Amino acid sequence: MIGKPRQTRDGIRIYDASDFAGMHKAGALAARILDEVIPLVVPGQTTGEIDRVIEAKVDEAGAKSATIGYRGYKHASCISVNHVVCHGIPGDKKLKDGDILNIDVTVIVDGWYGDTSRMYVAGKLNRRAERLIQITHESLMKGIEAVKPGNTFGDIGHAIQTFAEGQRMSVVRDFCGHGLGRVFHSPPNVLHYGRAGTGAVLEEGMFFTIEPMINLGRPETKVLSDDWTAVTRDKSLSAQFEHSVGVTANGCEIFTLSPADKFHPTYG
Ligand code: MF3
Ligand code: CO
Ligand code: CO
Repeated sequence: MIGKPRQTRDGIRIYDASDFAGMHKAGALAARILDEVIPLVVPGQTTGEIDRVIEAKVDEAGAKSATIGYRGYKHASCISVNHVVCHGIPGDKKLKDGDILNIDVTVIVDGWYGDTSRMYVAGKLNRRAERLIQITHESLMKGIEAVKPGNTFGDIGHAIQTFAEGQRMSVVRDFCGHGLGRVFHSPPNVLHYGRAGTGAVLEEGMFFTIEPMINLGRPETKVLSDDWTAVTRDKSLSAQFEHSVGVTANGCEIFTLSPADKFHPTYG
């Protein structure tokens, strides 16, 4: 008999040192796919076509899409353009010059989940959008810097919120990061705002995502009648970056690093 996996009082699963390898493999595939679609993000391209390429790449790798069939979702990615905050459904609409978009891919490799998203631009990036993307990327990185045993989940949210709001941008409250591992979404909810020292204490072996959504305007969102697409209520531009991480003895490992070092959208 194998014993029950270890969990904290908050229901957060603690994984073994040997489980990191499985997460690295899944995370690397998701990240590689996000690298490989960069050339497809051009004006005139449809988000539906980008999604079809992503689905084919997941298949080719012998992996599974975590999102196809998830609560009735039908696509291998979420593609969220401009004021879409998250869960944008790929479709026939063509990208226009200057559009910014988040592509979010989750794959399952040998039962392990790799979940990552990043920002892209079709054509020429304007300065307001560039600043939003930079600050959002940096917000994620500030959150990741707060990941180490003994810190709390509130410390992660606090790091993200104080940085983003200090740049006069706002943090979306309606969606959060999540535990993952052998499941897609598990405890805890990883909030991207909060007070230092609050929430569950981080322990070695916790696996979760950090995926801040940052808006140029107000933080409120609403979900469209398709029941998925979340947009900013004030129609302001929104950006998001997501990594899957695992807590180590003195910090964390990022499972979803870009193999070609292309996570950041200005690409050098
Ligand atoms: N990948 C998303 C996340 O970061 C979840 C997408 S669920 C879907 O948690 F069904 F919308 F694809
Ligand atoms: Co996620
Ligand atoms: Co995701």
